[in-house]
Amino acid sequence: MDLSINLGKFRLKNPLICASSEITMTADGIRSAIDAGAAAVIAKSVNELPAAAALLSKAEYVLLDDNWNVVPWDSPNRREASLFCRSGLAQMPLDQWLAMLAEVDAYAREKRSIVVGSITVAQADPAADIAAKMQAAGLRWIELNLGAPHGREASAVRQVTAQEAVRNYVRTVRQAVTVPLAVKLTAQADDPLALAKIAMEEGADMLVMSGRGQGFMPDIETHKPILGSWGAIGGGWALPASLYWVSKFWRNVTRQKIPIIGTNGARSAEDVVRFLLSGAHAVELASLAITNGPQVFEELLAGLVNYCERMQISKIQDLVGKSADCSLTYDDIPPKPTWSFPLDN
Ligand SMILES: Cc1cc2nc3c(=O)[nH]c(=O)nc-3n(C[C@H](O)[C@H](O)[C@H](O)COP(=O)(O)O)c2cc1C
Repeated sequence: MDLSINLGKFRLKNPLICASSEITMTADGIRSAIDAGAAAVIAKSVNELPAAAALLSKAEYVLLDDNWNVVPWDSPNRREASLFCRSGLAQMPLDQWLAMLAEVDAYAREKRSIVVGSITVAQADPAADIAAKMQAAGLRWIELNLGAPHGREASAVRQVTAQEAVRNYVRTVRQAVTVPLAVKLTAQADDPLALAKIAMEEGADMLVMSGRGQGFMPDIETHKPILGSWGAIGGGWALPASLYWVSKFWRNVTRQKIPIIGTNGARSAEDVVRFLLSGAHAVELASLAITNGPQVFEELLAGLVNYCERMQISKIQDLVGKSADCSLTYDDIPPKPTWSFPLDN
């Protein structure tokens, strides 16, 4: 069975990517994800502003259940929980950070994996400088995060939703590097499809969809906000919305010219399959790696193998876009002779 995936210039050994988060902020965390079988690991993001790194000192993380009650971190149900948090960027000085990433990327090469440098933008020109330094350090792939949900609360990171701004960020960074460039976008924009088209026009080699959203949650006992502030939220409930945009990118934007990487809402091997069927070539997972440890990639890989065996799929790449390709538009749907409602009878 072939789990490998063509991702533009890369051939990933499988579609599993450890997403950028606190797990990927240390060499140990990155190595653990590589050892567990992740085909790529996106390092924690950096940018040019000390204020963005300082945000990490204000970080707070809670897990919420389906009824929005706090779940203890050692609960057996933590996997199903929604992770609500404030976060910030990596705090290591950039030269040390890049040396560390280059070292773990050398380790990754031995395991047929890739360590990816990530920038959550503040300004475009400094982002391009950092990207050039990442390339000079030997990193083989760069992810430009334009979708930071915390950008609505803190000016040290940006959630870029204006079309001309997306054009400027991607163009500026593209001009600075030749290595493959992935652009991570938010769905919380007027027209995410237009943003994706612009990123592609400006030379993005991969699109990542979609960043997490903002959230607010009061504690009904104390009447104060859980976390004490607004924050970013994601959970299994986010999956259909992420798949919506991935499938629309696949049908209306990329048309198989560049790969899409799905993120936001995958909690199992089956969810990874759902992303592939919607048009993603690979899937970035963060919350599951945080709640259950980076070793979880072993379990996800075994789950993909089981699924392919059960469905007699010899090449997992064949799944990419299958459901998106046969999705009907509302215009395509034939009318029924009589209207009926599931509750009638
Ligand atoms: C605690 C935390 C920190 C994160 N930090 C970053 C980051 O620095 N850069 C980035 O691009 N995405 C960051 N993300 C977003 C993840 O990379 C991922 O896209 C998102 O969590 C959705 O995937 P998930 O449903 O598997 O968690 C972070 C997510 C979490 C939960």
